[in-house]
Amino acid sequence: MDYQVVVIGSGPGGYVAAIRCAQLGLKTAIIEKYDTLGGTCLNVGCIPSKALLDSSEHFHAAEHTFKTHGIDINKPKVNLKQMIGRKADVVKQNVEGIDYLMKKNKIDVFHGMGSFVDKNTIQIDGKKKQKITAEKVIIATGSKPASLPFIELDKERVITSTEALELKEIPKHMIVIGGGVIGVELGSVYARLGAKVSVVEFLENLIPSMDGTMGKELQKSLKGIGFEHYLGHKVTAVERKGNNVTVKAENKKGETVELKGDYCLVSIGRRPYTDKLGLDKAGVKMDDKGRVEVDDHLRTNVENIYAIGDVVKGAMLAHKAEEEGVFVAESIMGQKPHINYNLIPGVVYTWPEVASVGYTEEQLKEQGRKYKTGKFPYKALGRARASMDTDGLVKILADKETDEILGVHIIGARAADMIAAGVTAMEYRASAEDVARMSHAHPTYMEAFKEAALAATENRPIHM
Ligand code: FAD
Ligand code: NAI
Repeated sequence: MDYQVVVIGSGPGGYVAAIRCAQLGLKTAIIEKYDTLGGTCLNVGCIPSKALLDSSEHFHAAEHTFKTHGIDINKPKVNLKQMIGRKADVVKQNVEGIDYLMKKNKIDVFHGMGSFVDKNTIQIDGKKKQKITAEKVIIATGSKPASLPFIELDKERVITSTEALELKEIPKHMIVIGGGVIGVELGSVYARLGAKVSVVEFLENLIPSMDGTMGKELQKSLKGIGFEHYLGHKVTAVERKGNNVTVKAENKKGETVELKGDYCLVSIGRRPYTDKLGLDKAGVKMDDKGRVEVDDHLRTNVENIYAIGDVVKGAMLAHKAEEEGVFVAESIMGQKPHINYNLIPGVVYTWPEVASVGYTEEQLKEQGRKYKTGKFPYKALGRARASMDTDGLVKILADKETDEILGVHIIGARAADMIAAGVTAMEYRASAEDVARMSHAHPTYMEAFKEAALAATENRPIHM
C-alpha cells in the first residue's frame, strides 16, 4: 500500500485527522478537489463570514456608537470592495497556514477529485490522473448548501452563503429564507451596512435549534439593526425578474405575504456532500438522509473506512469535525478516545453573540427532568455599561436535586469566548454552587456567569 491513511477532503475534519495521524507516526496523504486546503470553513464558511461580521460591526459602531463614546468623525462610508478584499486576505492567510501544517507534518497533498475504485484504492482526477492505495481511508468530504425543489439558485440574485460572501454591492432589500445560523449571521453583515433584511423562517423562533430564550432575545436585537421577521412562515415561491426577486410565504393560518427585494439568500441548512465519491465501489452505505452511515466509533460498514464531520450525523460544526478527526486518528492507532457530543458548544456570531452548551430548557422539559433556572442580565453588569453592550443575559439550567449544571446559554457581548467556561464546568460536572463560589475578575462579562449560577442555586444573585 502507498499510505497507511488517506483522507478525502481537507476541511477542519480532514486536515485535523491528517495532522493527528501524522503525529502518531502514520504515513498519511490528503486529497482535496479545490486548489486551496481548508474546506468550507476556511474558504467559504467560518473564517470569511467572521471577517465580514467584524468589518461590518466596526462600520456599525462608527455610525452609531462612536458619537456617544465621544469620538466625532465624518459620516463613515462603506468601501465594499476593500471589505471583501480584506476578507479574501484573511482567507488566504488561513489556507496558507494549512499548507504549512501539511508540510510540517510531512503529509502528502493531492489536488483533484477523489473517488473510490475499491475499498483500498482511490482515483484522483486532478491536473493529472492517478491512483493511490491506502490501508485506511477517512471520508471528510463535508457538505454543500441545501435548497428547495422550486427554487432556482441562479447564484446572482438568488444566492447561497458562498455568493453572499462575495457581493459587489450592498443589497437594498435582502430576503433571507431560513432564520438559522447563516441567515442571522450574513443577514447581520448586510443589515449593518444599510440593507433592509427580511427573514422568513418556517418555525416560530429564530435559531430554533438553540434554547428558546436565545432566539427571542436575538430577535429583539436584530430588529434594532433593521431586521424584519416572518416567523412561522413557509416559503411557497421564489421568482426572479431582472434584478428583482419576489418571495411568497404562507403562515399557519394560510395567509400569504409577498416580499419584494433585490437579493434572496437561501439558508435552509446544508446537505452532506458525497457526489462522485464512488461510495458504491467501496461498498460504503449511506443513511436515509444521504449521510455516510457510521457507528459510534465513526466506522462505516466497511472495516477500513471511517467518516467524519459534516458528511456524517450530528451538528455541522467545524470544531465537531475536528474532534472527530482526532478521534478517528487515535482509534486507528488502537487508542480509546472519547467525544462528549452533549458538550460541543454552538455559537452564533451576531452582535450580541449567542453561545450555548448542554441541554436547552425545551429539551429538559421534553425529558421530564426537574431543573432550576438562573438568569442574569448584562444590563446589571458594570462591564457591559462601560462598553455600552447591555443587551443580553446568561441562563444556567441546573438539576433541581443535585445542582449539576445541565445547560449554559448566553446571549451578549463575547458570549462566543465565554461559553468555554460553561463547557469546562460541565465537563468536570460542576454544580451551579461550584461556579457561584469561584472568584470571577471584576469588571468582566464573566461576572454574569457567576451571578446566573448564584441565581440558579438559591436565587441569591448579588447585583440584582
Ligand atoms: P468541509 O469543511 O466542507 O470540507 C470538505 C472538503 O472536502 C471540501 O474542501 C471539499 O472540496 C472536499 N471534497 C469533497 N468531496 C471531495 C472529493 N470527492 N475529493 C476531494 N475533495 C473533496 N462552523 C463553525 O463551527 N463555526 C462557524 O463559525 C461556522 N461558520 C460557517 C459559516 C458559513 C457561511 C458556513 C457555510 C458554514 C459555517 N460553519 C461554521 C460550518 C463549518 O464550515 C462546517 O461544519 C465545517 O467546514 C465542516 O468540516 P468538514 O471537514 O466536515 O467539511
Ligand atoms: P440551519 O439549520 O442553522 O438553519 C436553517 C433554518 O431554515 C432553520 O431554522 C429551518 O427551520 C429553516 N427552514 C428550513 N426550511 C425552510 C423553509 N422551507 N422555509 C423557511 N425556513 C426554512 O442552517 P443554515 O443556517 O443554512 O446553516 C447550515 C449549517 O452551517 C448549520 O448546521 C450550522 O451549524 C452551520 N453554520 C454554523 C455557523 C456557526 O457555528 N456560527 C455559522 C453558519 C453556519
